[in-house]
Amino acid sequence: MSDSRHSRRAFLKGAGGVAAGGIVGPSALASSATESTTRAPKRLAGELDVELSINGAKQKVRCQPRTTLLNALRNHCDPPLTGTKLVCDHGSCGACTVLVDDEPACSCLLLAVDARGKEVRTVEGLANEDELSPVQAAFVEHDALMCGFCTPGFVMSITACLEKNPGASLPEIKSACAGNTCRCGTYPHIFDAAVAAGGRMRKGGSK
Ligand code: FES
Ligand code: FES
Repeated sequence: MSDSRHSRRAFLKGAGGVAAGGIVGPSALASSATESTTRAPKRLAGELDVELSINGAKQKVRCQPRTTLLNALRNHCDPPLTGTKLVCDHGSCGACTVLVDDEPACSCLLLAVDARGKEVRTVEGLANEDELSPVQAAFVEHDALMCGFCTPGFVMSITACLEKNPGASLPEIKSACAGNTCRCGTYPHIFDAAVAAGGRMRKGGSK
């Protein structure tokens, strides 16, 4: 039976409700102004239909050749997949980390067209119905988020690390998160959560 403290809804509220907190860089503001407009029903000049495989489901997104995977996830998918965060938009913070063929990747640096034929996993794809993944549940238990903007990226990097090796050591986990930055300084809680998640996965956690 799932614990309400660990429900998918509670986690996404924590990680996704941060938009109201106002910690959004200039590029994010610019992006929201240009990207969140309602999609036109007809294909505009230069647009193309790109078939992506996201969290195990095929999805056709209409976008420009220059559209990043991050932009496609957040603004061109139906429904929008906004769990993956836009912060720096330049590959330096890791907030936009997704798994592409099980490898962590900054989705702000990857074009949507280049994700064709690959399996993309986002934070929305980790939970099993209302049951959080071991990493997500450990983040809740260890209070491993403050503003939450970095959280999906850390969760994806740690998930990739522990799925390959649930027995990863703390230095190995830290190395796997080398591309992720937490401006709130939640690192001790994040790494406590990661170590606990590894222990849970070694005992047969679902992921
Ligand atoms: S938003 Fe992609 S690395 Fe910061
Ligand atoms: S919890 Fe705020 S940036 Fe990490």
